[in-house]
Amino acid sequence: MLNKFEKKICCIGAGYVGGPTMSVIASNCPELRVDVVDINKERIDAWNSDDYSKLPVFEPGLENIVKKCRDINLFFSNKVEECISQADIIFISVNTPTKTNGLGAGFASDLKWIESSARQIAKYARNHTVVVEKSTLPVKTAETIKTILNSSLDINPSSEEKKTFSIVSNPEFLAEGTAINDLQNPDRVLIGGEDDYSINLISDIYKKWIDPEKIITTNLWSSELSKLVSNAFLAQRISSINSISALCEATGANIMEVVGAIGTDTRIGKKFLMPGPGFGGSCFKKDILNLVYLCRYYGLNEVADYWEQVVKINYWQQKRISALVIKNLFGTLSNKKLTIYGFAFKANTNDTRESPSINISKYLLQEGSKLNFYDPKVNQKQIFNELDVNEEDGNVLVYEDPYKAVEGADAVLILTEWNEFKFFNWEAIYKVMRKPSWIFDSRISLDQNHLKKIGFKVWTLGAK
Ligand code: UDX
Ligand code: ADP
Repeated sequence: MLNKFEKKICCIGAGYVGGPTMSVIASNCPELRVDVVDINKERIDAWNSDDYSKLPVFEPGLENIVKKCRDINLFFSNKVEECISQADIIFISVNTPTKTNGLGAGFASDLKWIESSARQIAKYARNHTVVVEKSTLPVKTAETIKTILNSSLDINPSSEEKKTFSIVSNPEFLAEGTAINDLQNPDRVLIGGEDDYSINLISDIYKKWIDPEKIITTNLWSSELSKLVSNAFLAQRISSINSISALCEATGANIMEVVGAIGTDTRIGKKFLMPGPGFGGSCFKKDILNLVYLCRYYGLNEVADYWEQVVKINYWQQKRISALVIKNLFGTLSNKKLTIYGFAFKANTNDTRESPSINISKYLLQEGSKLNFYDPKVNQKQIFNELDVNEEDGNVLVYEDPYKAVEGADAVLILTEWNEFKFFNWEAIYKVMRKPSWIFDSRISLDQNHLKKIGFKVWTLGAK
């Protein structure tokens, strides 16, 4: 490797967090060499693709940054060991999904990828290395990482070369779809650590483009917990407003009018009050369940129940939307064809993790429906994977043309708020659908009156 750089960063994990975060660091810090490594060869090949539309993460603005920095001070490779051994700073950005079996299944995070990264760092790092937790992790994970790193020192105490480590927690607050802007102009950067040297080292990177007043330093545990609590508070707002959407439907109030009225109270604020089919994405559910697990561990059962309800309301919203689709289509979906517009968990991303579309589609399939899908950024392979179906199945078809996807359909469900849906030719869509033709707008994104004039029967979330 070249030595012209002041410092070398290695990021383990080239996913939705590692890829965009390291691209923005590389772009703002030309004096740093940033190596993003991953065990997944296909993913790395996609990051190195000459065709920039093939980057594995779709984020507005990302392509331009990768074009500017790749192979200059930003490198993507599978050379995990080599890059660890050369790095001054190592970011861990690997996946931490909820455990599916064993102790804490359904609540605790599976830390096996964190553990294996820590073991690789313990083995291959040299000299003093600052290890930064970037993945969302349960509180006290830094302790696990520290134990693994320090035990490597015991194994080889006589080694001539002295290895030392410090751990820093630097949680990521970027939201997908706006990741580049969030990284470029964050509300704050949180850095938790135990020694000034490492805290300052990481702060100095961010100070290259971020106002120092926005850089908050805390101890390790406060930083780890703040990430979980931030996400829990945000998700709680969504479950709160979604619970009220059901009450609006029952009583004749309009949820958007309620949102407008309460959001003007500056103590409540306008943001994050958009009702919908429930929150998705890789973080919210996982982080709340981690919080619930932590509270139960410490015997705080009432606190655990309180936060768990946020996740329960989220499932309930999806179930309730599915149930009312069935009810409006005469109580049965057998021999019916429904078109789902939108499979990503929100607009402007190709990520489908925990997307509300998954549960809603599964409920509808269980009722015997045939489903046609269209999403501008999600392909057939990903939809089949999430729904656990294959081409032979025949009940699930994925279209690249939204107008083909609605031919002969009884209903269209809007499950992701892609802007392009607003500009579709709804007259043309109406013509090719079976009558009566329904639109179920769970994202409150279409003009109900216009659709009704065309002839559609329309259900909009949170309105009678
Ligand atoms: C979230 C946090 O915002 C981010 O700080 C953290 O680092 C990771 O988790 P993300 O999951 O990418 O980011 O997206 P976000 O915009 O927060 O949306 C999460 C889900 O909530 C989406 O399914 C979205 O559709 C839904 N949502 C969001 C609503 O239903 N209503 C809202 O008002 C906002
Ligand atoms: P996130 O949204 O947290 O970024 P992703 O699943 O998108 O999660 O990305 C995590 C990445 O980490 C994956 O591409 C995975 O292959 C990679 N990864 C997991 N464990 C390791 C490891 N030990 N070494 C290198 N890469 C790893």
